[in-house]
Amino acid sequence: MTVTALVSAKSCGVTTSALAMTLSSTRPSLLAECDPAGGTIRAGLFQAQITAGTGLYHLAAAERAGEDALAQAFASHLVRLDESGHRQVLPGLTDPAQAPALARTWPALAQVMRVLSDEGGYDVVIDAGRLALESGHLHPTLTPAPLLHGADLVLLVVRATEHSLALARHMTGPLRNELTDRGTGADALGVLLIEDGPRRAHEVSEALRLPVMAALPWEPDTAAYLAGTGRAPRTLKKSALLNSARTALGHLQAAASRRALHQKYPAALPAPAAPQLAGVLQRLNQGAGARG
Ligand SMILES: Nc1ncnc2c1ncn2[C@@H]1O[C@H](COP(=O)(O)OP(=O)(O)OP(=O)(O)O)[C@@H](O)[C@H]1O
Ligand SMILES: [Mg+2]
Repeated sequence: MTVTALVSAKSCGVTTSALAMTLSSTRPSLLAECDPAGGTIRAGLFQAQITAGTGLYHLAAAERAGEDALAQAFASHLVRLDESGHRQVLPGLTDPAQAPALARTWPALAQVMRVLSDEGGYDVVIDAGRLALESGHLHPTLTPAPLLHGADLVLLVVRATEHSLALARHMTGPLRNELTDRGTGADALGVLLIEDGPRRAHEVSEALRLPVMAALPWEPDTAAYLAGTGRAPRTLKKSALLNSARTALGHLQAAASRRALHQKYPAALPAPAAPQLAGVLQRLNQGAGARG
Protein backbone atom coordinates (compact mmCIF):
# COMPACT_ATOMS: atom_id res chain seq x y z
CA MET A 1 0.00 0.00 0.00
CA THR A 2 1.07 3.59 0.32
CA VAL A 3 3.35 5.44 2.72
CA THR A 4 2.23 9.07 2.64
CA ALA A 5 4.02 11.80 4.57
CA LEU A 6 2.16 15.03 5.30
CA VAL A 7 4.03 18.27 5.97
CA SER A 8 3.16 21.95 6.10
CA ALA A 9 4.75 25.34 6.08
CA LYS A 10 2.53 26.34 8.99
CA SER A 11 -0.34 24.67 10.90
CA CYS A 12 -2.61 24.04 7.92
CA GLY A 13 -4.30 20.81 8.98
CA VAL A 14 -1.60 18.12 8.83
CA THR A 15 -2.73 16.27 11.97
CA THR A 16 -6.44 16.58 11.18
CA SER A 17 -5.93 15.34 7.63
CA ALA A 18 -3.69 12.48 8.78
CA LEU A 19 -6.34 11.38 11.27
CA ALA A 20 -9.12 11.66 8.69
CA MET A 21 -7.14 9.58 6.21
CA THR A 22 -6.21 6.91 8.75
CA LEU A 23 -9.74 6.62 10.11
CA SER A 24 -11.28 6.48 6.65
CA SER A 25 -8.98 3.83 5.19
CA THR A 26 -10.68 0.68 4.00
CA ARG A 27 -7.47 -1.26 4.72
CA PRO A 28 -5.47 -1.68 7.91
CA SER A 29 -3.99 1.73 8.56
CA LEU A 30 -1.40 3.37 10.75
CA LEU A 31 -0.86 6.99 11.65
CA ALA A 32 2.66 7.71 12.83
CA GLU A 33 2.69 11.02 14.66
CA CYS A 34 6.25 12.07 13.93
CA ASP A 35 6.02 15.86 14.27
CA PRO A 36 9.29 16.88 15.97
CA ALA A 37 7.49 19.88 17.50
CA GLY A 38 5.44 17.41 19.55
CA GLY A 39 2.27 15.43 19.05
CA THR A 40 -1.23 16.73 19.63
CA ILE A 41 -3.33 13.56 19.31
CA ARG A 42 -2.57 12.39 22.85
CA ALA A 43 -3.96 15.57 24.44
CA GLY A 44 -6.52 16.09 21.67
CA LEU A 45 -8.52 13.16 20.32
CA PHE A 46 -7.39 10.91 23.20
CA GLN A 47 -8.13 13.55 25.85
CA ALA A 48 -4.88 12.77 27.70
CA GLN A 49 -5.90 9.15 28.26
CA ILE A 50 -2.62 7.88 26.86
CA THR A 51 0.27 8.38 29.24
CA ALA A 52 3.76 9.54 28.31
CA GLY A 53 4.82 5.90 28.78
CA THR A 54 3.42 5.11 25.33
CA GLY A 55 4.62 6.59 22.08
CA LEU A 56 7.29 7.54 19.59
CA TYR A 57 9.90 8.73 22.07
CA HIS A 58 10.38 5.22 23.47
CA LEU A 59 11.35 3.90 20.05
CA ALA A 60 14.63 5.84 20.20
CA ALA A 61 15.88 3.74 23.13
CA ALA A 62 14.54 0.56 21.52
CA GLU A 63 16.38 1.28 18.28
CA ARG A 64 19.63 1.58 20.19
CA ALA A 65 19.00 -1.89 21.62
CA GLY A 66 18.71 -3.41 18.14
CA GLU A 67 16.27 -4.09 15.32
CA ASP A 68 14.41 -6.83 17.13
CA ALA A 69 13.85 -4.53 20.11
CA LEU A 70 12.63 -1.81 17.76
CA ALA A 71 10.17 -4.14 16.04
CA GLN A 72 8.83 -5.26 19.41
CA ALA A 73 8.62 -1.71 20.79
CA PHE A 74 6.96 -0.39 17.65
CA ALA A 75 4.12 -2.88 17.90
CA SER A 76 3.67 -2.35 21.63
CA HIS A 77 3.52 1.45 21.40
CA LEU A 78 0.63 1.56 18.95
CA VAL A 79 -2.80 2.61 20.17
CA ARG A 80 -6.10 1.63 18.61
CA LEU A 81 -8.04 4.38 16.91
CA ASP A 82 -11.19 2.29 16.67
CA GLU A 83 -12.83 -0.80 18.12
CA SER A 84 -11.67 -3.10 15.35
CA GLY A 85 -8.01 -2.30 15.93
CA HIS A 86 -7.47 -2.07 12.19
CA ARG A 87 -6.67 1.62 12.55
CA GLN A 88 -3.86 2.51 14.88
CA VAL A 89 -1.76 5.45 15.88
CA LEU A 90 1.78 5.81 17.15
CA PRO A 91 1.37 8.78 19.53
CA GLY A 92 3.94 11.53 19.10
CA LEU A 93 6.47 13.27 21.30
CA THR A 94 5.28 14.89 24.50
CA ASP A 95 8.03 17.52 24.39
CA PRO A 96 9.90 19.04 21.42
CA ALA A 97 13.10 18.61 23.46
CA GLN A 98 12.77 14.86 22.76
CA ALA A 99 13.21 15.36 19.00
CA PRO A 100 17.05 15.23 18.85
CA ALA A 101 16.95 11.73 20.41
CA LEU A 102 14.99 10.54 17.37
CA ALA A 103 17.49 11.81 14.79
CA ARG A 104 19.24 8.46 14.44
CA THR A 105 16.00 6.48 14.78
CA TRP A 106 14.20 7.92 11.72
CA PRO A 107 15.95 5.73 9.11
CA ALA A 108 14.99 2.53 10.95
CA LEU A 109 11.46 3.82 11.42
CA ALA A 110 11.26 4.57 7.70
CA GLN A 111 12.05 0.90 7.11
CA VAL A 112 9.36 -0.22 9.53
CA MET A 113 6.82 1.90 7.63
CA ARG A 114 7.94 0.29 4.36
CA VAL A 115 7.52 -3.20 5.80
CA LEU A 116 4.03 -2.36 7.05
CA SER A 117 3.06 -0.94 3.68
CA ASP A 118 4.78 -3.34 1.28
CA GLU A 119 4.44 -6.57 3.21
CA GLY A 120 1.57 -5.89 5.60
CA GLY A 121 -0.81 -4.07 3.22
CA TYR A 122 -1.10 -1.08 5.58
CA ASP A 123 -1.93 2.44 4.54
CA VAL A 124 0.70 4.38 6.46
CA VAL A 125 0.21 8.09 7.05
CA ILE A 126 3.05 10.06 8.62
CA ASP A 127 2.40 13.36 10.38
CA ALA A 128 5.76 14.99 9.73
CA GLY A 129 4.68 18.37 11.08
CA ARG A 130 5.88 21.77 9.97
CA LEU A 131 8.93 21.99 7.79
CA ALA A 132 12.02 23.66 9.17
CA LEU A 133 14.89 24.59 6.90
CA GLU A 134 18.57 25.12 7.49
CA SER A 135 20.70 26.55 4.69
CA GLY A 136 18.03 25.57 2.16
CA HIS A 137 17.83 21.94 3.34
CA LEU A 138 15.49 20.14 5.69
CA HIS A 139 16.66 20.71 9.24
CA PRO A 140 18.31 17.52 10.55
CA THR A 141 16.58 17.47 13.95
CA LEU A 142 13.55 19.71 13.48
CA THR A 143 12.21 17.59 10.61
CA PRO A 144 12.03 13.79 10.29
CA ALA A 145 13.77 14.03 6.91
CA PRO A 146 14.49 10.28 6.48
CA LEU A 147 10.76 9.57 6.72
CA LEU A 148 10.16 11.95 3.80
CA HIS A 149 12.97 10.31 1.82
CA GLY A 150 11.38 6.88 2.25
CA ALA A 151 7.73 7.83 1.63
CA ASP A 152 5.93 6.99 -1.61
CA LEU A 153 4.35 10.42 -1.57
CA VAL A 154 5.14 13.63 0.31
CA LEU A 155 2.19 15.98 0.49
CA LEU A 156 2.57 19.64 1.30
CA VAL A 157 -0.67 20.50 3.07
CA VAL A 158 -1.92 23.97 2.13
CA ARG A 159 -5.13 25.88 2.55
CA ALA A 160 -6.79 27.53 -0.42
CA THR A 161 -5.81 31.01 0.73
CA GLU A 162 -3.24 33.45 -0.57
CA HIS A 163 -1.58 33.53 2.84
CA SER A 164 -1.12 29.77 2.97
CA LEU A 165 0.21 29.66 -0.59
CA ALA A 166 2.67 32.45 0.15
CA LEU A 167 4.14 30.47 3.05
CA ALA A 168 4.17 27.19 1.13
CA ARG A 169 5.97 28.72 -1.87
CA HIS A 170 9.24 28.92 0.09
CA MET A 171 9.13 25.23 0.86
CA THR A 172 8.65 23.74 -2.59
CA GLY A 173 12.20 24.30 -3.89
CA PRO A 174 14.01 22.81 -0.87
CA LEU A 175 11.54 19.90 -0.75
CA ARG A 176 12.03 19.14 -4.45
CA ASN A 177 15.81 19.23 -4.05
CA GLU A 178 15.71 17.08 -0.96
CA LEU A 179 13.58 14.39 -2.60
CA THR A 180 15.71 14.47 -5.74
CA ASP A 181 19.01 14.22 -3.87
CA ARG A 182 18.09 11.92 -1.01
CA GLY A 183 14.61 10.56 -1.62
CA THR A 184 12.83 8.75 -4.40
CA GLY A 185 12.57 11.75 -6.73
CA ALA A 186 10.81 15.09 -6.93
CA ASP A 187 7.70 13.51 -8.42
CA ALA A 188 6.93 12.10 -4.95
CA LEU A 189 5.93 15.65 -4.05
CA GLY A 190 2.39 16.96 -4.34
CA VAL A 191 -0.18 19.10 -2.59
CA LEU A 192 -3.01 18.17 -0.25
CA LEU A 193 -5.43 21.05 -0.52
CA ILE A 194 -7.67 22.01 2.40
CA GLU A 195 -10.61 23.77 0.80
CA ASP A 196 -11.17 26.70 3.11
CA GLY A 197 -10.37 29.58 0.78
CA PRO A 198 -11.05 30.96 -2.67
CA ARG A 199 -8.17 29.34 -4.57
CA ARG A 200 -9.11 26.45 -6.83
CA ALA A 201 -6.97 23.36 -7.32
CA HIS A 202 -5.60 24.47 -10.71
CA GLU A 203 -4.61 27.86 -9.28
CA VAL A 204 -2.85 26.21 -6.34
CA SER A 205 -1.10 23.86 -8.71
CA GLU A 206 0.07 26.76 -10.89
CA ALA A 207 1.14 28.86 -7.92
CA LEU A 208 3.24 26.10 -6.36
CA ARG A 209 4.16 24.31 -9.59
CA LEU A 210 3.07 21.04 -7.99
CA PRO A 211 0.20 18.68 -8.70
CA VAL A 212 -2.73 18.83 -6.29
CA MET A 213 -2.87 15.12 -5.51
CA ALA A 214 -5.85 15.27 -3.16
CA ALA A 215 -8.26 17.71 -1.54
CA LEU A 216 -10.22 17.71 1.70
CA PRO A 217 -13.24 19.88 2.55
CA TRP A 218 -13.37 22.46 5.30
CA GLU A 219 -15.55 20.83 7.92
CA PRO A 220 -15.15 22.49 11.34
CA ASP A 221 -17.36 20.11 13.36
CA THR A 222 -15.58 16.93 12.34
CA ALA A 223 -12.20 18.66 12.58
CA ALA A 224 -13.03 19.86 16.11
CA TYR A 225 -13.92 16.31 17.14
CA LEU A 226 -10.62 15.02 15.74
CA ALA A 227 -8.80 17.76 17.67
CA GLY A 228 -10.57 16.75 20.87
CA THR A 229 -12.42 20.04 21.18
CA GLY A 230 -15.81 19.04 19.81
CA ARG A 231 -18.44 16.34 20.14
CA ALA A 232 -18.34 13.21 18.02
CA PRO A 233 -20.45 13.66 14.91
CA ARG A 234 -23.36 11.22 14.81
CA THR A 235 -21.92 9.43 11.82
CA LEU A 236 -18.20 10.15 11.70
CA LYS A 237 -17.54 7.72 8.87
CA LYS A 238 -20.16 9.40 6.70
CA SER A 239 -18.86 12.92 7.34
CA ALA A 240 -17.74 14.89 4.31
CA LEU A 241 -14.21 14.99 5.72
CA LEU A 242 -13.84 11.22 6.10
CA ASN A 243 -15.62 10.52 2.83
CA SER A 244 -13.26 12.82 0.98
CA ALA A 245 -10.29 11.38 2.87
CA ARG A 246 -11.30 7.90 1.65
CA THR A 247 -11.46 9.18 -1.91
CA ALA A 248 -8.14 10.96 -1.41
CA LEU A 249 -6.48 7.72 -0.27
CA GLY A 250 -7.70 6.06 -3.46
CA HIS A 251 -6.17 8.83 -5.58
CA LEU A 252 -2.93 8.67 -3.64
CA GLN A 253 -2.72 4.92 -4.01
CA ALA A 254 -3.18 5.31 -7.78
CA ALA A 255 -0.55 8.06 -7.93
CA ALA A 256 1.92 5.95 -5.93
CA SER A 257 1.33 2.95 -8.20
CA ARG A 258 1.93 5.09 -11.29
CA ARG A 259 5.15 6.36 -9.74
CA ALA A 260 6.30 2.85 -8.95
CA LEU A 261 5.73 1.85 -12.58
CA HIS A 262 7.75 4.76 -13.90
CA GLN A 263 10.29 4.80 -11.11
CA LYS A 264 13.55 6.10 -12.48
CA TYR A 265 15.28 6.40 -9.14
CA PRO A 266 16.72 3.55 -7.16
CA ALA A 267 14.85 2.80 -3.96
CA ALA A 268 15.89 5.32 -1.32
CA LEU A 269 16.11 2.68 1.34
CA PRO A 270 18.08 -0.54 1.28
CA ALA A 271 15.76 -3.40 0.40
CA PRO A 272 14.75 -5.88 1.58
CA ALA A 273 14.32 -4.60 5.11
CA ALA A 274 16.19 -6.38 7.87
CA PRO A 275 14.33 -9.59 8.79
CA GLN A 276 14.13 -8.44 12.40
CA LEU A 277 12.12 -5.41 11.28
CA ALA A 278 9.80 -7.63 9.32
CA GLY A 279 9.03 -9.18 12.73
CA VAL A 280 6.97 -6.09 13.45
CA LEU A 281 4.20 -7.56 11.30
CA GLN A 282 4.19 -10.79 13.22
CA ARG A 283 3.94 -8.89 16.47
CA LEU A 284 1.11 -6.74 15.15
CA ASN A 285 -0.75 -9.81 14.00
CA GLN A 286 -0.33 -11.30 17.44
CA GLY A 287 -2.30 -8.33 18.77
CA ALA A 288 0.60 -6.63 20.49
CA GLY A 289 -0.90 -3.30 19.45
CA ALA A 290 -4.03 -3.73 21.51
CA ARG A 291 -3.28 -1.19 24.19
CA GLY A 292 -4.68 2.24 24.76
N1 LIG B 1 -10.54 20.12 7.02
C1 LIG B 1 -10.67 20.93 8.06
N2 LIG B 1 -11.87 21.53 8.31
C2 LIG B 1 -11.99 22.37 9.36
N3 LIG B 1 -11.01 22.67 10.23
C3 LIG B 1 -9.82 22.10 10.04
C4 LIG B 1 -9.59 21.20 8.96
N4 LIG B 1 -8.29 20.79 9.03
C5 LIG B 1 -7.77 21.40 10.11
N5 LIG B 1 -8.67 22.18 10.72
C6 LIG B 1 -8.46 22.99 11.91
O1 LIG B 1 -7.29 23.77 11.73
C7 LIG B 1 -6.53 23.83 12.93
C8 LIG B 1 -5.13 23.29 12.67
O2 LIG B 1 -5.28 21.94 12.29
P1 LIG B 1 -4.17 20.84 12.65
O3 LIG B 1 -3.87 20.84 14.09
O4 LIG B 1 -4.60 19.60 12.01
O5 LIG B 1 -2.95 21.48 11.85
P2 LIG B 1 -1.42 21.07 11.86
O6 LIG B 1 -0.91 21.39 10.51
O7 LIG B 1 -1.25 19.70 12.37
O8 LIG B 1 -0.85 22.12 12.93
P3 LIG B 1 0.52 22.06 13.79
O9 LIG B 1 1.64 22.32 12.83
O10 LIG B 1 0.35 23.17 14.78
O11 LIG B 1 0.60 20.70 14.42
C9 LIG B 1 -7.31 23.03 13.98
O12 LIG B 1 -8.12 23.92 14.70
C10 LIG B 1 -8.20 22.11 13.14
O13 LIG B 1 -9.40 21.74 13.79
MG1 LIG C 1 -0.16 18.88 13.89
